[in-house]
Amino acid sequence: MDATLRYAQLKEEINFHNHRYHVLDAPLISDLEYDRLLNELKALEADHPNWVTRDSPTQRTGAKAADRFDKLRHPAPILSLANAFGADDARAWLERISKIDDRAEKAKFVVEPKIDGLSVVLHYRDGLFVQGATRGDGEVGEDITSNLRTIRAIPLKIPVTSDPPSGTSQLSMTSNQSTVVSVPKYLVLRGEAFLPIKEFDELNRKLEEAGEKTYLNPRNTAAGSLRQLDPALTASRPLTLLVYQIIHAEGGKVPTSQWEILQYLKALGFPTTDIAKRFDDLESAIAYTETWDKRRDELPYEADGMVIKVDDLTLAAELGFVGKDPRGAIAFKFPAREVTTTLNDIGVAVGRTGVLTPFAVLEPVEVGGVIVERATLHNFDFIAEKDIRIGDRVLVKRAGEVIPYVIGPVTDARSGKEKKFKPPTNCPACAQAVEHLEGEVAWYCVNAACPAQLVRNVEHFVSRGAMDIVGLGIKIVEQLIESGLVKDVADIYTLTKEALLELEGFADKKADNLLASIANSKNQTLTRLITALGIHGVGEVSAADLAGHFGNLDALAKTSAEDLQSIEGIGPNIAEGIVDWFARKANQKVLAKLKKAGVWPTSEERGKKKEGLFSGMTFVITGTLPTFSRDDAKDFIESHGGKVTDSVSKKTSYLVLGEAPGSKFEKAKSLGVKVVGEAELRKLVQKA
Ligand code: IVH
Repeated sequence: MDATLRYAQLKEEINFHNHRYHVLDAPLISDLEYDRLLNELKALEADHPNWVTRDSPTQRTGAKAADRFDKLRHPAPILSLANAFGADDARAWLERISKIDDRAEKAKFVVEPKIDGLSVVLHYRDGLFVQGATRGDGEVGEDITSNLRTIRAIPLKIPVTSDPPSGTSQLSMTSNQSTVVSVPKYLVLRGEAFLPIKEFDELNRKLEEAGEKTYLNPRNTAAGSLRQLDPALTASRPLTLLVYQIIHAEGGKVPTSQWEILQYLKALGFPTTDIAKRFDDLESAIAYTETWDKRRDELPYEADGMVIKVDDLTLAAELGFVGKDPRGAIAFKFPAREVTTTLNDIGVAVGRTGVLTPFAVLEPVEVGGVIVERATLHNFDFIAEKDIRIGDRVLVKRAGEVIPYVIGPVTDARSGKEKKFKPPTNCPACAQAVEHLEGEVAWYCVNAACPAQLVRNVEHFVSRGAMDIVGLGIKIVEQLIESGLVKDVADIYTLTKEALLELEGFADKKADNLLASIANSKNQTLTRLITALGIHGVGEVSAADLAGHFGNLDALAKTSAEDLQSIEGIGPNIAEGIVDWFARKANQKVLAKLKKAGVWPTSEERGKKKEGLFSGMTFVITGTLPTFSRDDAKDFIESHGGKVTDSVSKKTSYLVLGEAPGSKFEKAKSLGVKVVGEAELRKLVQKA
């Protein structure tokens, strides 16, 4: 084939595939095949440098700009939008414009996503992308043509062939219907450039890995990327855009309705939103808008609302504008998820494991429909990395169910009076010096008697997976600590009936029940006791490994970090944490008290399958049992060789029935499975 012909064909083919990939999200060939085409093109261009045209796919990267961008005047003002904060605002808008022009009463509306990106203006002459600008002040923007050229979703030449170019092999599957779309000689469009959320997260993940500063949000990142003087930097950011408006057209006709504009732009090869819809009345437009408030997380970009536009653009233009806001459209805003407010102070909370967590004390602000006064600051490293100072304006985000968090400071808003924050060297609750574990970002208060930790500690000690002391809820735990009866977890075992009766809400029976379940807990396994101690990094699984290895707490208390590390699943940090825990005087005191109280279980054989009366039997438990917790019942059954499963089948040997059973009871009855209560379950063993 003639080389000039092949050159023209290659350009068209590559642009076609580029559009399939970057605009339609529906590639027809692999990256490898694409690269092959591109390499062939590059080779031809190397041999014939004078052939190269501006629309060649190789021409997306350009030279660095000097020290600033040139100005570029827009052919028509780049307008903004008035906001509506809810359905009533939108209705009031329709009422206002209907008074100006009664055609508005019967108007149709187009609803589009309001992308939280950057407005860009694209100029095409004779179908070629020749210039592009930022919005600037709406009259004059900055010429960022070279940067925009790097965005592959922006066609360098329109219309983009929507049918596979001839002479290509792999494209026989697509249709041959060719729709000829005419392009005005001079066409100026507006769109919103943005960084998709996924790409933003990925970018930040990589930066974090490399130990570099991360970006605040997709919008700022996109804005920063587009205003880089070196287009190679812009090119390295996976920016894209959606186009939604014709700013100016000369030498050719363009549609006069917003709905048709979107179809027309799409046919030319531009990326357009696929969730736009046209409605016959405002109420349906509002209803559609509101559905997206709830579904906004499904969008691949950040949207701060939806735009409701009068479909008839002639009518929209005649409605005129107020300041920079056209009357023909309105931004229906979703509740903001990201706001700025003042950081009044930084507080420090102490958690159960003694970890110190900084939190932001904020000037109250509404985020996502809720007033927020506190937000997490993650950890002290985060504060240092982001250089967050007390008195700063900070960006706060609250999305969905996530706890509000500070993203970072708005450094441009600084007055100079902001104060740097120093992490505390002592625990804010007990004043003991805080400690840092090698390889971890957190700082800890390791004082087992720290009052801030005590409540959380006791709560953990008595919890279901630990010593499982029934009847010791958080309220009673607080009562016991406040009254001074409990100063550490071991004090639970010194409680007397007389002392309990002194407390509010305690009568005979309640005190007896509590003391009985405390006494019961003395028989808990070593694994449970180790779990209950709440050693940093030691959960149920490690606790079981430790119990199996050491057999009792005396041996564990005397061990070294090296010895601990020989146990599968115990790494250097956990080992260090364990040794550290047992070395503390306060903890040794607790252990001595526990031993004295008879809370000193010894070895249990873990891992080995028990053989017993229940061997080969399966049990299902439903409802609340009188004295057994679920875990107790399970332990009991397993200790006799039985198996506990979740669902009832014909193979189930027994259903263990408690108070307020679930549907399992019905199922067991219908299948004829034997049903026993807790007392009968115990008797099954005794009978033998
Ligand atoms: S229409 C006359 N449509 O939102 C047309 N704007 O707060 C005025 N935006 O400056 C703009 N998505 O940067 C329109 N689908 C969309 C939009 C959109 C995002 C931005 C645009 C505008 C800002 C107004």
